[in-house]
Amino acid sequence: MRLIALLACIAISSLFSTNVAFADTGAEAWLRYALLQEGASSFPNRVAMVGNSEIVRTAGSELVRALEGRPGKRVPTGELPNADAFVLGTWRDIHPLFPSLNRGRVPSGDGFWLKTVRQHGAKYWLVIGASNRGVLYGTFSLLARIAQQQNVLTLDDSQSPSAPIRWVSQWDNLDGTIERGYAGGSIFFDNGQVRGDLTRLNEYARLLASVGINGCALNNVNADPRMLSRDFLPQLVRIADALRPWGVKLAISVDLSSPMAVGGLKTFDPLNPDVGAWWKTTADAIYQRIPDFGGFVVKADSEGRSGPSQYGRTAADAANVIARALRPHNGVLLYRAFVYNHRLDWRDPKADRARAAYDYLHPLDGKLDDNVVIQIKYGPIDFQVREPASPLFGAMPNTSQAIELQVTQEYTGQQRHLVFLAPMWKEILDFDMHVNGESPVKKIVSGKTWHRPLGGYNAVVNVGLDENWLAHPLAMANLYAYGRLAWNPDLSAEETVGDWTRLTFGNKPQVVETISKMLLSSWHIYESYTGPLGAGTLTDILGDHYGPGIESSEHNGWGQWHRADEHGMGMDRTIATGTGYIGQYSPEVQKQYEPLAACPDELLLFMHHVPYTYVLHSSKTVIQHIYDSHYEGAEQATGLVTQWKTLRGQIDDKRYDDVLKRLEYQAGFAIVWRDTVVNWFFKESGIPDVKGRAGHVTSGGNL
Ligand code: GCU
Repeated sequence: MRLIALLACIAISSLFSTNVAFADTGAEAWLRYALLQEGASSFPNRVAMVGNSEIVRTAGSELVRALEGRPGKRVPTGELPNADAFVLGTWRDIHPLFPSLNRGRVPSGDGFWLKTVRQHGAKYWLVIGASNRGVLYGTFSLLARIAQQQNVLTLDDSQSPSAPIRWVSQWDNLDGTIERGYAGGSIFFDNGQVRGDLTRLNEYARLLASVGINGCALNNVNADPRMLSRDFLPQLVRIADALRPWGVKLAISVDLSSPMAVGGLKTFDPLNPDVGAWWKTTADAIYQRIPDFGGFVVKADSEGRSGPSQYGRTAADAANVIARALRPHNGVLLYRAFVYNHRLDWRDPKADRARAAYDYLHPLDGKLDDNVVIQIKYGPIDFQVREPASPLFGAMPNTSQAIELQVTQEYTGQQRHLVFLAPMWKEILDFDMHVNGESPVKKIVSGKTWHRPLGGYNAVVNVGLDENWLAHPLAMANLYAYGRLAWNPDLSAEETVGDWTRLTFGNKPQVVETISKMLLSSWHIYESYTGPLGAGTLTDILGDHYGPGIESSEHNGWGQWHRADEHGMGMDRTIATGTGYIGQYSPEVQKQYEPLAACPDELLLFMHHVPYTYVLHSSKTVIQHIYDSHYEGAEQATGLVTQWKTLRGQIDDKRYDDVLKRLEYQAGFAIVWRDTVVNWFFKESGIPDVKGRAGHVTSGGNL
């Protein structure tokens, strides 16, 4: 008999109070169901879960948790109520109960359909999933609408995700530290083991599910081979078990030398049959214990990691042998395109790290198995504050692709500076590669441009043990926006920020307007006081990637060069006289970047080397732009403090004070950035600032 779980008589009315004086730790992030307020009495107090899936039960419990304001309780089974109710289930399970529903509206993939219907005198809010996950996503979507006081009395909304792969990566080390993590230790590991208490992990999975994330790739991308050792598997099983109720699959970043490091073989040559057999046995063992395991992420031949080149093999050789081990189980292999030589000759004007991913991978197009996905960082260098879209997106029509983003703000202020990244991601996702008609990056990575079976998104998130997950209370907007954009990259940055703010801080128009405005301006502000005109962040690339370190990019093999000297600045990446990087784009894109006069100001120094006196489209010289933008950016950082102060008493004191402290610090550090950069360029170029500011140090000076 069809199983219908009923949650009866939820006392909804006691939930609702609008007091802002409480202290909010940020642990609930955007799932603050205290916000499900006015109008609650218009909703039924019954939740029916149709079918017998763990994920659908999670969805039902979530609805109860939201409506009751506490975790879901055990539910009795019963029949579809003859009274108003929420009804949750997959199309397959719900359709027989509501035969008049129109099949044409049924979504695909992990999509959902929210539909209100009347039947036998009762009103039902149906959450219909194309899959079990879809039911969960639909439930979260419904709750988000209620929390934002949208009208949900009549619903007919069907949505499907843009792409099948919507993952996060956590660069956690087994010792409990996190590579490029800025919010405390690992919620997954401690002291070489998986943590005993996985409560935080459970809450993290819930947050991920609430924005449609369906995979989590674990451990430092510079992977620890122990992740694949047999005796570690039971610990991974615990993690997978905690993620599963939320529809989040466990995946693992693996080291290519694992067959030697933990497998006891004498080689990890991908074409050696013993190596192939080892990957197969290893994958089989994982799937036996974790049937919904997602797959592997591989970083190879990059920054000193092992790779197929050690045996004269290609990335395709390495990727395919592992992919074949995963294939019988429907697992996928995400092979990272972040492959480059970090011992480049800086004296060679033709050497160019930005070329590397394309040069190495695009000849392999068509040679990769169908369950291999090439994971490409959004830009050709490394998560800088401004980069063009990687040319590789347009160069592999026969290969599935995923875009790699960073929620953790490695090069963008490390969560000590407010930088909302969705506007930057949108510029990349919307950028038209002109490779097959209209072909923005978002269409390519969804698999639609070239009809690929796979594709999607993977973002390095690196939440930590800090109660509010990412240290800066406003940084969670990045994780939220990431999930929303992976689901629907056509959303605007404005839409995501508005939703996040309402869910996180409430619906008061002044609060929503102020916070949205601050977030939407923050990327540009940070860019203005750090790295101008596409030159990169000018940060300390040899150290912690945080403060100014203008000379640290130069005279070394890492290849993050800006080539600033006394005459001018920028990398000549033209086809005519430079490294030829621009030639990796389609002819239409080449036309935007190759002619100096056409190149947009914001990427000028990424594409061209010009004298400081070169006049920009803005009519300023490059040097004056550097001076002005740094002064303007630092001033705008101070403006963020002023804007925030208008919110005193409008939101809870705890988050208000925490953010204020951070913004004040940021405003001070922006001045350090400003003075360091401005004075360095003033000294180097000898060209005065027309406003007479450069040369007058007001802060710490050269860091
Ligand atoms: C950056 C980061 C490293 C990381 C690397 C990668 O360079 O600083 O910590 O390992 O990216 O993405 O592989």
